[in-house]
Amino acid sequence: MTPSERSDLIRHASDARQHAHAPYSKFLVGAALLTESGEIVGGCNVENASYGLTICAERVAFGTAVAAGHRRFQALAIATSGGHPPCGACRQFAAEFCDGLPILLIDADHPDHVTESNLCDLLPGRFELKP
Ligand code: THU
Repeated sequence: MTPSERSDLIRHASDARQHAHAPYSKFLVGAALLTESGEIVGGCNVENASYGLTICAERVAFGTAVAAGHRRFQALAIATSGGHPPCGACRQFAAEFCDGLPILLIDADHPDHVTESNLCDLLPGRFELKP
C-alpha cells in the first residue's frame, strides 16, 4: 500500500461513515477496503428496527467488494468514534478472504489518529474449512 493509497483508504472509510444508518445505536461506522488491484470499496453499518438484522460496516464492504468480483485485499480501514477494532463476527468474515490483512483503525473524532493492527493479531485460531 502506497502512502497515497493509505490516505485515500482512510478518507473513504471516514466518508462511508457519513452514510451509516444507525438510528438505534447512534454508533456510526465506516469501512473501506483496498483491493489487490488498488480499487477502494466502502461500506457503512445498516441497522434495522429488528435489531438482529443489523449489518456491520465491514461486512457491507466485503459483500460489496465480493459482488464486484474482488477476492483479494491489501488493507481494511475502519472509522468510528474512538477508533474501535472490528467485532468478532467481522474478523471471521474478513478471514475468509485474507490471512494477515492490515487493519487501520481511525478515530473519527481525531482523523489524524490512526492505529495499525492486523487480522492475525485480532483473530488467532480462526474457524476454517478447506474447500
Ligand atoms: N458495528 C459495526 O458496524 N462494526 C463492528 O465491527 C461492530 C459494530 C455496528 C453495528 C451497530 O450498528 C453498531 O455498530 C453498534 O453495535
